[in-house]
Amino acid sequence: MNSTLNIGIVGGRGYIAIELLRLLNQHPHITVRTVISRQTGTVGDLHDSLRHCVPIASLPLSQDYAQLIDCQIVFFATPSSIAMQHAPALLEAGIKVIDLSADFRLADPAEWERWYGKAHTAPQWQRAAVYGLPEINRGAIKDAQLIACPGCYPTAIIIGSAPLLQHTTQSRASLMVNAVSGISGAGRSGDPVHSFVECAESFRAYAPTGHRHHAEIIQTMRQFTSSEVQLTFVPYLAPMRRGIHATITTALPHIHQDDIRQWYLDAYHHEPFITTTDHCPSVAEVVGSNRCHLSIYRSNDNIIIFSVLDNLIKGAAGQALQNMNIMYGWPETLSISQ
Ligand SMILES: NC(=O)c1ccc[n+]([C@@H]2O[C@H](COP(=O)([O-])OP(=O)(O)OC[C@H]3O[C@@H](n4cnc5c(N)ncnc54)[C@H](OP(=O)(O)O)[C@@H]3O)[C@@H](O)[C@H]2O)c1
Repeated sequence: MNSTLNIGIVGGRGYIAIELLRLLNQHPHITVRTVISRQTGTVGDLHDSLRHCVPIASLPLSQDYAQLIDCQIVFFATPSSIAMQHAPALLEAGIKVIDLSADFRLADPAEWERWYGKAHTAPQWQRAAVYGLPEINRGAIKDAQLIACPGCYPTAIIIGSAPLLQHTTQSRASLMVNAVSGISGAGRSGDPVHSFVECAESFRAYAPTGHRHHAEIIQTMRQFTSSEVQLTFVPYLAPMRRGIHATITTALPHIHQDDIRQWYLDAYHHEPFITTTDHCPSVAEVVGSNRCHLSIYRSNDNIIIFSVLDNLIKGAAGQALQNMNIMYGWPETLSISQ
């Protein structure tokens, strides 16, 4: 008798799917049953490096979801607007869904429409979804049927600012965030602007007046502070394959740096994947792991927090597995490299 759970992945050819497949392949309690892709063949045809590890065929998505119906969990690793079309039928069939796109991250349909430029097609599930950031939402994740995995920037920024905001007594907190992403953050879509030629030896900001992750970050911050948060969020693209490096700056003249550092140590000392370091963390030290490394400094009246992680692991696939492990009561670190 097969005592493992069947897993389905939609969006098989993408960067997140390959990391999911790599991690899930090591997991003792699951079997990757179905990989959905618009490109049929084998999983090895989608990702050369998985040719000998995941020896199954990829399949197109059929209208009756027949290939997914005997799965207990389905991961959507697709661009926005795909999961909201297909996840409801699976959810209604009792399947748990872990969505890595933005479709269920915003609870308010009007806010989703404002940022994504179209009406949401499953607003009832938008409200039911649980935001899958274990460090702040573990209790709700345990009982969730639908997980909305956070974006990679929001993961770094929220983990990096939560202890600070939880201790804020001002009615208004003003955060300046400069956050740098590796090119894989843009997916495998093939837009020439993300090609090697355009990105190598270059560095640029984008969307300085309104990145889509802004709404998600503010919505989540409201869970743990009653202060009004004024967030200035400037994302950058750097010529590295993967990684997020966020620098969060806020004026906090009257509290000693050591006391602020203690807030972080207290908040995260039980967290298996978060470390408050005493050096400026580098992207290289977290790439390939599910870790988020933080550090705290003072410069004049300002506190500076660095938060770094791997966008494809803690910012996506690793965090999705962390959620799955919590949902099933398995050790949270199972099959996730620390
Ligand atoms: N990259 C990151 O760092 C990161 C971090 C956090 C969250 N995310 C989110 O995770 C999701 C996947 O990201 P990714 O980086 O893996 O993107 P990606 O490399 O562009 O892959 C997405 C996959 O979705 C499938 N797909 C694309 N258009 C589709 C369509 N119209 N209908 C059905 N399937 C379609 C494709 O797979 P097939 O060709 O096999 O069908 C594609 O390879 C996105 O929503 C992204 O925003 C990404």
